[in-house]
Amino acid sequence: MDIFDYIQNRAKTEIEPVMEEMIPRDGKPEEVNKLIWEFLDLGGKRFRPVMSLLCCETLGEDSKKTIYPAVAIELFHNFTLIHDDIEDNSQMRRGKPCLHIRNGIPLAINAGDGLYNFVWETIINAPMPTNKKVESQKIIVKAFSEVLKGQATEIGWHHKKEWNIDEEKYLQMIGGKTGALIGASCEVGAYCGGATKSKRKVFREYGEAIGLAFQIQDDVLNVVGDFDKYKKEIGGDITEGKRTLMIIKLLQKATPEEKQFIIDALDKHTTNQQEIEKIIALMKKYKTIDYAKKKAYSIVDKAKKKMERKIEKGEARDKLLEIADFFLTRDL
Ligand code: IPE
Ligand code: IPE
Ligand code: MG
Ligand code: MG
Repeated sequence: MDIFDYIQNRAKTEIEPVMEEMIPRDGKPEEVNKLIWEFLDLGGKRFRPVMSLLCCETLGEDSKKTIYPAVAIELFHNFTLIHDDIEDNSQMRRGKPCLHIRNGIPLAINAGDGLYNFVWETIINAPMPTNKKVESQKIIVKAFSEVLKGQATEIGWHHKKEWNIDEEKYLQMIGGKTGALIGASCEVGAYCGGATKSKRKVFREYGEAIGLAFQIQDDVLNVVGDFDKYKKEIGGDITEGKRTLMIIKLLQKATPEEKQFIIDALDKHTTNQQEIEKIIALMKKYKTIDYAKKKAYSIVDKAKKKMERKIEKGEARDKLLEIADFFLTRDL
């Protein structure tokens, strides 16, 4: 079984039953829970909660100990996607029109808020000792604030038409919007598995690092991926005006005329296919897609080596290492 099937399998048998328990499908009014399930039923990779289970198991503990915080993180992730699609004015998610496209922005915002509430209900109602709940809550709330700061940074760049963005600023921004939650998935799993503070840090930093690679590969797939697998609009990041690593590098290498064309197209949120294709062709010409892939590879390589040094060998640790490779090679 490949690692993606492994993740999906564990999500189906261990994570999703708790999601069903926490969010009644027939909750009233149906404009909340039915919309939430409409979104959750579209699937998603569900690797974040499975990483929590694996981190717990790496310490020799039963992953049941971290199941509720793991579910809370998956619910938070889904909440961010519903709101993110509104913020980014996106059209497609998980192969279908976004929740706000199908139900309108007001109900989608409200369903997102409902989902955010279920995050906390999941933690509060978890069959865990109170001190464990509180500490788990601390880990995830810290990550949530990093996520919203990362989101704000990126949206702020678009709002202010800020183009003075280098690789370091980009990595910091994606460390917030994407890395922090993957880091928290790992840390909370390790914490529930009884990890010391210093071991918790190793797991958190592992998740944060490979989370950067996950986001870089996501940006790569946005330009060269296959819609049937990626399930979001190809080229959408160009329309959204995203300062991806490929764009940042391209602006460093392009001629002044090309640079102006790229900035204008992104600032006006172009939906013109020819302009989008021209920008992708420039990325290919200046090999900035290859640059981004290499960066993701080197981040993963470093993170895996550190994990291998600091954490004892075992089946669960090997799966965590495989997940890092999956982040680089995935096309979905
Ligand atoms: C999408 O995350 C948001 C990013 C961090 C790029 P996922 O790709 O994990 O989304 P789903 O849950 O599989 O749809
Ligand atoms: C991912 O943001 C991070 C969050 C949703 C918090 P993006 O905007 O880059 O991800 P996609 O492309 O919409 O999935
Ligand atoms: Mg988005
Ligand atoms: Mg976004």
